[in-house]
Amino acid sequence: MKLRQGLTFDDVLLVPRYSEVLTRNMPLDVDLGKGVKLSIPIVSANMKNVTGSEMALAMSGYGGMALLHRFASIDEQIRMFQEAFVPHYGKMIGCSVGVKDEDYGNADALVGAGCSVLCVDVAHGDHILAISMVESLAKSHPDVMLIAGNVATAGGARRLYNAGADVIKVGIGPGSLCTTRIETGNGVPQITALMDVFDESCNVDEAELEQTKQWFVSHPTANIDTLMTMVGSLRNKDDRKFKIIADGGIRNGGDIAKALCISDAVMLGSLLAGTNEAPGTIEVDATSGRKFKTYAGSSTHKASRVEGVVRRVPCKGPVKHILTKLTEGVQSGLSYQGCKNLGELKEDYEFIQISGAGLAESHPHTY
Ligand code: XMP
Repeated sequence: MKLRQGLTFDDVLLVPRYSEVLTRNMPLDVDLGKGVKLSIPIVSANMKNVTGSEMALAMSGYGGMALLHRFASIDEQIRMFQEAFVPHYGKMIGCSVGVKDEDYGNADALVGAGCSVLCVDVAHGDHILAISMVESLAKSHPDVMLIAGNVATAGGARRLYNAGADVIKVGIGPGSLCTTRIETGNGVPQITALMDVFDESCNVDEAELEQTKQWFVSHPTANIDTLMTMVGSLRNKDDRKFKIIADGGIRNGGDIAKALCISDAVMLGSLLAGTNEAPGTIEVDATSGRKFKTYAGSSTHKASRVEGVVRRVPCKGPVKHILTKLTEGVQSGLSYQGCKNLGELKEDYEFIQISGAGLAESHPHTY
């Protein structure tokens, strides 16, 4: 039996650090590899009520990335992609595929239509069908950037990376509409999942690792925790095998700042649902006159609907307003950390675990 503690966004805070940062207008750019360079580390979720062609155009235009959803016929997906595709930003718009037999042909059709970013996206990415799909796509389309997920463990990330994935999408159950953890008992709180996968993404200097192992052999009284700490310090955060998208559970700029210590970009569903650019019709509440759009968990489009729920979200106006507020929060977060860019954030940060009282103190309150 194994039991360990798992933590998520509200369980931790970043400990502020000495800062010489003079402007909060620092760049937030990130290079995801294979020519995909973002100026803001935000990806719109490949969900039916979040990313259609209008959201894809907006996200890529504002410097983020968009993954079109796959809950439509392949012809409709190609139409959405072609409608959103503009040569300058095309690399920032990806399409999604599942792992069924027909998805192999769908992936070929999407690449044939000009798509250079594919996301193999299933609820449980640490599965032989997902791994086989990634292996096949990596062989047949070596120039395409492959994003694969979702996983919540180092082993899951390693298997997808070994199969050929460039970017791993992390998150089992943190999403605002997810009921996976409740209905199936499975999942990993998101900060812990990201930490585990981030550690896995870092290359270790093999020579130094060998030396460390020799040290351990010659110090028979040293315990395994000491060895693990020594091995941990050999991880090179600048030299990583794969990039990470933190997917689900992000509610504000603070969550993004925490996530970007241990990932390269965040995927947003709830925060972008209800914006002008999100697909869906506007409903007006007869009593209050307030306007809403529908936001549905992706599993609710399947025959077995057990792992997600449907909700109405208030209309929020242009996505640009949301992105501006979030990026300003992240930039302030970097300034508290004394960092001039996102790379520096990963070099040295400290999370502090907080109590329920600490969380209550974090929110606006009166006495
Ligand atoms: P947020 O919190 O941004 O999360 O709304 C978006 C992410 O939630 C995931 N997702 C689901 N997970 N059942 C799940 O367990 C579902 O029906 C479902 N729909 C979406 C997905 O990873 C998305 O990006």
